[in-house]
Amino acid sequence: MGPFVSPLPPALAPVINRFTRRASVCAEAYNPDEEEDDMESRVIHPKTDDQRNRLQEACKDILLFKNLDPEQMSQVLDAMFEKLIEGGEHVIDQGDDGDNFYVIDRGTYDIYVKCDGVGRCVGTYDNRGSFGELALMYNTPRAATIIATSPGAVWGLDRLTFRRIIVKNNAKKRRMYENFIESLPFLKSLEVSERLKVVDVIGTKVYSDGEQIIAQGDMADCFFIVESGEVRITMKRKSKQDAEENGAVEIARCFRGQYFGELALVTNKPRAASAFALGTVKCLVMDVQAFERLLGPCMEIMKRNIANYEEQLVALFGTNMDIADPSA
Ligand code: CMP
Ligand code: CMP
Repeated sequence: MGPFVSPLPPALAPVINRFTRRASVCAEAYNPDEEEDDMESRVIHPKTDDQRNRLQEACKDILLFKNLDPEQMSQVLDAMFEKLIEGGEHVIDQGDDGDNFYVIDRGTYDIYVKCDGVGRCVGTYDNRGSFGELALMYNTPRAATIIATSPGAVWGLDRLTFRRIIVKNNAKKRRMYENFIESLPFLKSLEVSERLKVVDVIGTKVYSDGEQIIAQGDMADCFFIVESGEVRITMKRKSKQDAEENGAVEIARCFRGQYFGELALVTNKPRAASAFALGTVKCLVMDVQAFERLLGPCMEIMKRNIANYEEQLVALFGTNMDIADPSA
């Protein structure tokens, strides 16, 4: 079937699908090959040049899009539509059925999750990132409420297109990464179903020799696992004068199966060190929201490792550099 230009306003377009029924399908039971197959109908929302440029910019770091081939990516971009958001607007309400996946164009948003009936703010999005994938991936009610804290705009992707492209692609990702994720010692506290959810949200990024992966002092929004290659971790001493005198010192190397970039997410501080690719490096990358949602059970192991970092820094610099002290 040829391209399908949705005659409906963006917000109504998703209503035409059959998937609004909600079933408690768990992560492992989903088989995309069994989805009904009039999947060829393409949704196209025409865009101005300005919109297309902004959309491309907003989507370039979206992890769920990282494993798509160019044709799939172009179908996703065609299907996305702009939605302007007012300050205070609820973009998603916890418990609702999932209609769209959203990529942030601009604006700030709070994430609230109800615990014993009381909503608690568990995180924020600041002018970048995406949300709303869980209800579409697992056919579950919305797991959080997203409230705009400023006027903004998001790009919506309807449920049908999301399932046809992203969820199908996730089945391929599971086949590729299930065994690797299963073999990682630091994830051993996770149940099998939780590990599969990790695979569903990760994206892959490839870095060329010498490329900077993390810059010391930057704000952090993601976590890395080395799939192949070698990563060099370097640190500058704190005072400017020291940094100029001493330059950056290599403090560690990470290889296949090892992780890095967790420290800033755990301590809520800027990146404590820099990371560079040595040769070509392929990393699995997870955003901070998924890290917090999925890796809680692995925190003990990670925290023990942070104690090792401190010992290592004392040996190198004569001080632990306050890396784990959130007030420093
Ligand atoms: P979904 O459940 O479809 O709708 C709410 C979205 O909030 C959810 O998908 C995630 O994309 C996002 N989110 C961010 N942090 C959390 C969290 N801690 N728990 C649940 N959802 C979260
Ligand atoms: P983060 O601070 O987020 O970014 C830099 C990463 O370097 C850090 O997380 C750790 O994962 C990693 N790292 C490796 N060795 C050390 C060390 N001794 N001190 C601090 N960070 C380290």
